[in-house]
Amino acid sequence: MIKPVYLTEDDTIVMLDQRKLPLEEVWLKINTPEKVAEAIKTLTVRGAPAIGIAAAYGFYIGVKNLTDASRRKLEDRCRYLTNLLGSTRPTAVNLFWALKRMNRIVEEDTVSPVIKLIKKLRAEALRIHEEDIEACLSMASFGSRLIPKGVKILTHCNAGAIATGGYGTALGIVRKVHEEGKVEMVWVDETRPLLQGARLTAWELEKEGIPYKVICDNMAGYLMAKGMVDVVVVGADRITSRGDVANKIGTYTLAVLAKHHNIPLIVAAPTSTFDLSLESGDSIPIEERKEEEVLNFAGMRTTPPKAHAFNPAFDVTPAELIDYIVTEKGVIERPLCQNINKLLKDAD
Ligand code: MRU
Repeated sequence: MIKPVYLTEDDTIVMLDQRKLPLEEVWLKINTPEKVAEAIKTLTVRGAPAIGIAAAYGFYIGVKNLTDASRRKLEDRCRYLTNLLGSTRPTAVNLFWALKRMNRIVEEDTVSPVIKLIKKLRAEALRIHEEDIEACLSMASFGSRLIPKGVKILTHCNAGAIATGGYGTALGIVRKVHEEGKVEMVWVDETRPLLQGARLTAWELEKEGIPYKVICDNMAGYLMAKGMVDVVVVGADRITSRGDVANKIGTYTLAVLAKHHNIPLIVAAPTSTFDLSLESGDSIPIEERKEEEVLNFAGMRTTPPKAHAFNPAFDVTPAELIDYIVTEKGVIERPLCQNINKLLKDAD
């Protein structure tokens, strides 16, 4: 199983440089929280759960040398790190969820010496990573039960092993369905502007020998109209209490198309992707990225010199367009709002 980010025994963060895929497989060694923040910002590491895990490791390496410091100093440092890592990407809630879990270790233990708290922070970061892998495996087995034999799946962006602790959410389901011999074809949306589908999902599927073809984002409707898609499976960056889903830009377009063609839309996400403090997807902060990502293609200018572009990185799919949300705790069916509350709130 590929883990896009991990912590070594001697506390180095090792990270797959996703900007270089699929042409080069480069593993970076990172030793400062500032560099982790930079890696998250630049999409060296990306995908909602993977960002959370990277932030947790970044937080730990940011405190690990404070063994002789006072508790006050540790608390100051935690505030600095929360701010540093939390101001990298605004949409995926897993980032803030992971930072909250790290902070809670210090807040809830007012008696242990700093040296012990640092050990506990290391263990917590590792636990966040382990739990995410377990969640992916569990989602895969819940999700595969929804999918029939001979299926043609359409997916968008990359919600695979490299977007998570390992194995993947949407692509974890695809992996499992393939293991069960049920996949006929995976249609991979190329996912402009940064090509997470063409570069990353295709790379993962290729490695696993899963049958796939890449399509341009604007081809999905044609395929659906021709009966070439049985189900759409995507990941998520933030899910509100009523089931609105923020995910890579273009997901909403797919959802509208899928509804028109009566094709089920499955969203796969661990419970760390839910933000129950928000009801409407309109309140989810949407990251806007540099216009160069749209004005250029593969590093080459494709637009007139004076052209400008608009570049929202995510969109929101309203709950009414979603058929199932697969989590590690089970499948949420419609009505999503009621069933989200049942599964998440009642389970707490
Ligand atoms: O901008 P990215 O590449 O971080 O966007 C990633 C996505 O939108 C994924 O679909 C989402 O984070 C789920 S990853 C399991």
